[in-house]
Amino acid sequence: MEKQLTANELRQKFIDFFVSKEHTQISGASLIPENDPTVLFTTAGMHPLVPYILGADHPAGKRLVNYQKCIRTGDIEAVGDPHHLTFFEMLGNWSLGDYFKKEAITYSYEFLTEILGLDINELSVTVFAGDDEVPRDNTAYEMWRSVGIPEERIYFLGREDNWWGPAGETGPCGPDTEMFIDTGRPPCGDNCRPGCSCGKYFEIWNDVFMGYKKNADGSYVEMSRKCVDTGMGIERTTAILQGKQSVYETEVFAPIIAEIERLSSKRYGDDEGSDTSIRILADHVRTSVFILGDQRGMAPSNVGQGYILRRLIRRAVRHGHKLGIEGAFLGRLAPIVFDLYGKPYPELLQNREFVLKELAGEEAKFSETLAKGEREFEKMLPNLLKGKDRIISGRTAFKLYDTYGYPLELTAELAGEHGFTVDEAGFNAAFEKHQEISRSGASQQFKGGLADHSERTTALHTATHLLHQALRMVLGDHVGQKGSNITVDRLRFDFTHPAAMTSEEIQRVEDIVNEQIKRDLPVTCVTMTLKEAREAGAIALFEGRYDEQVKVYSAGDFSKEVCGGPHVTHTGLLGHFKIAKEQSSSAGVRRIRATLE
Ligand code: ALA
Repeated sequence: MEKQLTANELRQKFIDFFVSKEHTQISGASLIPENDPTVLFTTAGMHPLVPYILGADHPAGKRLVNYQKCIRTGDIEAVGDPHHLTFFEMLGNWSLGDYFKKEAITYSYEFLTEILGLDINELSVTVFAGDDEVPRDNTAYEMWRSVGIPEERIYFLGREDNWWGPAGETGPCGPDTEMFIDTGRPPCGDNCRPGCSCGKYFEIWNDVFMGYKKNADGSYVEMSRKCVDTGMGIERTTAILQGKQSVYETEVFAPIIAEIERLSSKRYGDDEGSDTSIRILADHVRTSVFILGDQRGMAPSNVGQGYILRRLIRRAVRHGHKLGIEGAFLGRLAPIVFDLYGKPYPELLQNREFVLKELAGEEAKFSETLAKGEREFEKMLPNLLKGKDRIISGRTAFKLYDTYGYPLELTAELAGEHGFTVDEAGFNAAFEKHQEISRSGASQQFKGGLADHSERTTALHTATHLLHQALRMVLGDHVGQKGSNITVDRLRFDFTHPAAMTSEEIQRVEDIVNEQIKRDLPVTCVTMTLKEAREAGAIALFEGRYDEQVKVYSAGDFSKEVCGGPHVTHTGLLGHFKIAKEQSSSAGVRRIRATLE
């Protein structure tokens, strides 16, 4: 096995291999999905490709390859062990109605053995066992046998293990075949097999055979045009190729951890408690830099992605304090992430100032919160001392947490210093009640359905293009899209502009858009390279490779924008455009909500 392959080398080898198999390299998408109300972050390489897996023509063709930034925040509190990450990079290759199982498995096998140099005896694979709805995947099994994987290392597993997707509530999905490296450790028991959590088997790659579409009513429909979607996690695979026990031991984290050691005078590996804090700090800083520095980067806030970002930064700060780091430190760690990732993700360098400013601001604010929580605790103390039990109630601890953001561990620590204990069960009960309330809020996000391409959202999408161009005409060329979100009722558009719009400006933008609707401009789409698109004056949201094929949508002579679509055929279909609200979204970013009546 080629033990010392770095993450950068793995990324490049994967791309080169699939390009040599006639795949076109496409840019990875933003971490913040556009026009998709079902998820907060891009969670897999296939996510931005859903419309194409469902049947739309991709401008770059039927065989694609890329690397994609992903965030999975299922449970942020679980990060801290040696294996979990919130941010990771996914390598993927796709067939959009082109090759299917046989070729996909052949490519996977060839890449693992010939390019990565893995020994066939180190590989184990799993295949879908079949159930009432979808038959056992004999084709995949036969294919693995034919490349030489012995029968005893092919495992048939059920839906919980060998079915992938959809990414949201609805969309493409199908049986998959997963590839594992067998570390050679003894099995943990009779039932030890790939998927077992004992650490004998490491999953490195997943080939999904996208043959089905799940509908909103829960039914599965077989798609006539079958696709392949694969995913290989760079960090995990790098770790295993290097013979490391944990992703945190690879070069992707080593420089970050070294700086944390320097700042805190702790050594990674000395003590499990500090190790957990070091991993949390390292992971959360990396993820925060990627969210802030994204092409659609956003600042910490109390909603959506901004809220996740706020939680990550605060948790990082708290663990930094726990490690004994004094003074502000996020600004010392972020530049290491720029150095590690500036080349594959140039947007990080373009947004460097913004990232550093927002990190410093949030760190300062939260440090103040911590100080405030301590003051509140001191204020409560005389009353607490009057009680006969030396117990801080769950309600009081939760109030400190909920009102001042003061974490339970710190309340417990402070309490301990004064001879008190905290009713943690009471705190958890209050916390759970609060979570139920916020969960029911979060589930609202799933209402729109993945890639909802109804007439209304399509019309609002076209209106968004007209709005974008009108804003540039009225406010200036500095206006750039920072975010777009469409539901059946309204569009929401975030854009860079330093000040609140005046009512005259709002009126002018509205008038310009309505004028274009009245002109009933044809909406047309042409495929060209990104370079040609830029030369033609199209607005392009973010940098990609210049030779990459993109779709350019034009509304008559009025607007021209690089975009995946879909759009209405002519602007006369839009109705009357109305700006309902113009407000601040974050520093230097304004937000417009608008409707079509
Ligand atoms: N989309 C598949 C995954 O995330 C490949 O595992």
